[in-house]
Amino acid sequence: MAITLDRNKLAQLLLQEEQLFHKNHPKSYELYQRARKSLHGGVPMLWMVRWAGSFPVFVKEARGAHLTDVDGNSYIDFCLGDTGAMTGHAPEATIKAVAEQMQRGATLMLPYEDVVWVGEELQRRFGLPYWQFALTATDANRFVLRMARMITKRPKILVFNYCYHGSVDEAFITLDEEGTPISRPNNMGPAVNPLETTKVIEFNDIAALETVLSARDVAAVLAEPVMTNIGIIHPDPGFHDVLREMTRKYGTYLIMDETHTICAGPGGYTALHGLEPDFLTLGKPLAGGVPAAVYGFTEEVSKAFADKVVMNDADVGGIGGTLAGNALSIAAMKATLENVLTEEFYVKAINLQNRFTAGVEEVIKEFELPWIVKSLGNRSEYWFSSKPPKNGGEAHAAIDPELDRYLHLCALNRGILMTPFHNMALICPETTEADVDHHTSIFREAIRPLFG
Ligand SMILES: Cc1ncc(COP(=O)(O)O)c(C=O)c1O
Repeated sequence: MAITLDRNKLAQLLLQEEQLFHKNHPKSYELYQRARKSLHGGVPMLWMVRWAGSFPVFVKEARGAHLTDVDGNSYIDFCLGDTGAMTGHAPEATIKAVAEQMQRGATLMLPYEDVVWVGEELQRRFGLPYWQFALTATDANRFVLRMARMITKRPKILVFNYCYHGSVDEAFITLDEEGTPISRPNNMGPAVNPLETTKVIEFNDIAALETVLSARDVAAVLAEPVMTNIGIIHPDPGFHDVLREMTRKYGTYLIMDETHTICAGPGGYTALHGLEPDFLTLGKPLAGGVPAAVYGFTEEVSKAFADKVVMNDADVGGIGGTLAGNALSIAAMKATLENVLTEEFYVKAINLQNRFTAGVEEVIKEFELPWIVKSLGNRSEYWFSSKPPKNGGEAHAAIDPELDRYLHLCALNRGILMTPFHNMALICPETTEADVDHHTSIFREAIRPLFG
């Protein structure tokens, strides 16, 4: 029997949850009202209005996998700063390193010895020989795109439909329902129409890949090895082999953005599957929550880039930043790589992710819902469709914002934070089996009145 979603019931349940949220967060509400007088939208950054409540929860403190808000509510955090805090909040080793470094100078436009250890560790983990630093994954992506265009002298970038790589201008392009590239809906004030800079195809579409690359005007493919920003979309078997083969054949660089897929293992999906990108970018959890990002590249890229850089103008060429490679970020990165994002962490976190996924699958089965759960490393996501999407277009079509909002708010009202942009859960070092099981029971509790 096909399960149908009663939209009236959903709207009614959502209203009840909104009222409950309001009732349980009076201090957050008060702070929000005050914040609205000095902060645009009452938040320091636009996306914070995307949480399911009608105003954001103001945090008192966060430690490990948990946080408490100003009203005294406590939460198990599966959002973890949308991967920025995949290390758990306030990891001890990182705090110590940051506190010590702060006393020895935070930003100097000169290196300390620690940065060499970090470079060597990145080399060891990801297999690329040369590294540079930035403050955000967005910047790391921007910089490697510049390098790729500079070296190849080609104007275009290729991305996959519904990708997200940070606020990188070139990547705000999608395919419409007829498969025609368009500027991504609600792209805010683009400097240049992305149709002029970028080509876009569906993930896993090998025929389109060859057609696009064979024009030999694409400097680089910018890709996540597994798409994570429109749900989790795995590559078809053999897709990465073909992607690498074709990019080499047509003289296009291959950039792997591991900012989210670092959830797959200590060397990301790249090391786990022996991929051979020309560039690799990574940010978010790398420094335990302190802003830091890196980009690595091959010997060939390093030489070609060095040949083209005019050193006297290196500081005004569009790559780099005053605070990039600052001592505080480096100290945090060293401590985090050495003590937090370890092999042991991944083993434990991936086991717990399996438990999380099994719990959600059990509830889906119990209520005979046409939904699935997809996972990668310590990341798990439920999805309102009975088969895994093969590409961004299919994934986008399965989004149900109303249902998302209801499930998020139910969870939030019962002490569980899920990433506000999708139904994604991440596991950090301090997440426990009890935390995971609590999510399963809350998920069941949210589903029952809707489908029971
Ligand atoms: C794959 C990927 N790359 C890059 C970024 C940009 O990260 P940031 O916003 O920290 O610059 C994101 C952000 O979500 C991302 O998901």
